Amino acid sequence: MCEFPFRVPPLFDGQEILRITSEQFRELPRLSDKKANLTAIINRLGELSAIAQDLPAIITTVGKFSASNQTLFLIHDGHAVTGLLKIGVKKLFLYDGAQVIHEMSPMCILDFYVSEKFQRRGIGRRLFDAALIYTNISPHRFAIDRPSPKLIGFYAKHFGLKSYMPQNNSYVVFEDFFNPTSPVK
Ligand code: ACO
Repeated sequence: MCEFPFRVPPLFDGQEILRITSEQFRELPRLSDKKANLTAIINRLGELSAIAQDLPAIITTVGKFSASNQTLFLIHDGHAVTGLLKIGVKKLFLYDGAQVIHEMSPMCILDFYVSEKFQRRGIGRRLFDAALIYTNISPHRFAIDRPSPKLIGFYAKHFGLKSYMPQNNSYVVFEDFFNPTSPVK
């Protein structure tokens, strides 16, 4: 669980989920409490996510986020921040099922974390749904960076997507990613 020495709900403007783009983050006044508090949240959640995934380096820091063109979703329970989802477009070379390589710029799931104590309660799904609504993209159209076994289980449980194609980079795409007849949305 991620508690902070400031009240979390006011940062979320009365909503359960806060969505913030890197551009919106950059535009927050430099010395504002909002920027300082969001900085603390993003850095802490990013650190916990890297630990949970056993990553050699932290993927989500304020420094990396503000220099990017990505979107973050944060969720709270009225007291603590319980999860983070980060998405963004990446230029990738992806192999389809026939081993044909495609240069593409898909929307990607870049970092996804729910506090251990709160996992398996639907919080990840609520974060993911916020991203689906915001992007208007179906789950099978995302490329996923370094999916963990829990993320693979999450995709199978919530979207019925089980088979996936590991790529030559750290990304994975699920069945139907390249299927022109599968719905875009
Ligand atoms: N063990 C195995 N599967 C799990 C676990 C777990 N501890 N937690 C969640 N799952 C999967 C299961 O399929 C589970 O369904 P089940 O309980 O019926 O088996 C399903 O997710 C639960 O769905 P939600 O409750 O909506 O998801 P949750 O709030 O747990 O969030 C998440 C899912 C973000 C993957 C979370 O488990 C987590 O933070 N895990 C640790 C970090 C991680 O692996 N992040 C994804 C890395 S990939 C990336 O970031 C691009």
